[in-house]
Formats: sequence, C-alpha cells, structure tokens
Amino acid sequence: MGPNPLWLLEDLARDLDLRPGMRVLDLGSGKGATAVFLAKEYGVQVWAADLWVDPTDAAAHIDRDDVVTLKAEAHTLPFAQGFFDAIVCVDAYEYFGTADNYLSYITSFLKPGGQLGVATPAMTREVRELGHIPEHIKKLVGWEALAWHTADWWRFQWEITELVDVTAARLQENGWADWVKWSHAVSEYRGERDDALDMLEADNGQYLTFAILAARKR
Ligand SMILES: C[S@@+](CC[C@H](N)C(=O)[O-])C[C@H]1O[C@@H](n2cnc3c(N)ncnc32)[C@H](O)[C@@H]1O
Repeated sequence: MGPNPLWLLEDLARDLDLRPGMRVLDLGSGKGATAVFLAKEYGVQVWAADLWVDPTDAAAHIDRDDVVTLKAEAHTLPFAQGFFDAIVCVDAYEYFGTADNYLSYITSFLKPGGQLGVATPAMTREVRELGHIPEHIKKLVGWEALAWHTADWWRFQWEITELVDVTAARLQENGWADWVKWSHAVSEYRGERDDALDMLEADNGQYLTFAILAARKR
C-alpha cells in the first residue's frame, strides 16, 4: 500500500535482531506483504494488525500458519503487556506514532529488551525549522507532512523518555531515489501516472526520504 514496503523492511531489518520463533507484531500491516516477508525470511511468528484492511481480505493473500491477521487500532491493541519480542511498523507509524505518549504505550507490549523498528516517510529538515511545508509536498499530502520528521527528531523523542535505547535513527541515503523507482513501477503497473511522481520530481531529493528507527526496551 505504501511505497516500497519490502525494500524498507529489508533495510530496517539490518538494525534489528530477528530470530526464528520470535513473536513479532507488524503494526499497520496493510495487505500483509511485510508480514509474509518477516515470517518467510526470519522464521518469526507474526501478528499482522491493521485498521483499514479487513483481516479476511489480508488473510486471503497470505495463507500461512505463522501469520495471524487481525483488525486493530494502534491505540487499543488487544494484546497482553510484554507479549512481543519485536514490533515492526513500515510506513504506518506516521499516522499514530508522533504523540508524546505513544512510545510508552507501544513499548508496553514488548518484553524487556524487546525491539521496536519503524520505517516512516521523513524529511531532511523539520517543517517547524523551515517554517512552512514545501509547496510540492503540501500539494499532495497537506498538513500530514508534519509527521514526516527527521531522524534526529525521532532520536530525541525516544531517547528523552529513557524507556528505550535507540539503536538506529537514520535517514535512508537512497530513500528518495527508491521512492521514485517505486512510483515509476506503480505507474507502469497501473497504466497511469502515480500521484506521488509530481511531488518526488519537484523535490529532486532535497527534502524527501525515509527514516529508519530502531530501539530496545529497557
Ligand atoms: C500506507 S499503509 C502501509 C501498509 C503496509 N505497512 C505497507 O507498507 O504496505 C498505512 C497503514 O496504516 C494503517 N493505519 C493507519 N492508522 C492506523 C491506526 N490508527 N491503527 C492501526 N493501523 C493504522 C492503515 O490501516 C494502513 O494499512
């Protein structure tokens, strides 16, 4: 659903330690591509939780015993505290994860030492620092670009809580270029120009990329 979810996850996984048999929550899992990738590549058990995609529709694409699909809202998750070894979120955390109190909530579902991994659209400069949302970005995503924080913003936001040790907070060097490649592929597949292409071409790699974030619960 989002841009290049598997390339993002592959990069994010470099900063995670995923072992066979671990319990992993794929939060905002969409149609389940990332959940299948996690189960297949790392041998983990995956709970694929999403709000907009019906779990029956997602399950129809998946058909694996090691992936459970469910409908869940990110603020009212139906799991026991300390249940997961890892929580992974690809291109969804920007919808709910920027609130100051969210890290405390989401890490309550991790075991001590459990890992949180996030790949999320990001900008090279904070909107607050620029004083405005660049026109080409505003045109497509409007105020929602406020959630596209820099890696430094995330590092500070997470470290200051002392709830986690941040093990990675970086902007992808090729994030913009990968996004362009993805948008061209989507345009070709659908036979019409992808919505994001105008924004990406106008940006030319100045502001747009993805942040890769990883942390361990203390
Ligand atoms: C851009 S899609 C990405 C889906 C998938 N991770 C991917 O990369 O293809 C964003 C996903 O976030 C989910 N989402 C947004 N807000 C949510 C919330 N409050 N609780 C749970 N999921 C949410 C949506 O259901 C949607 O599937």
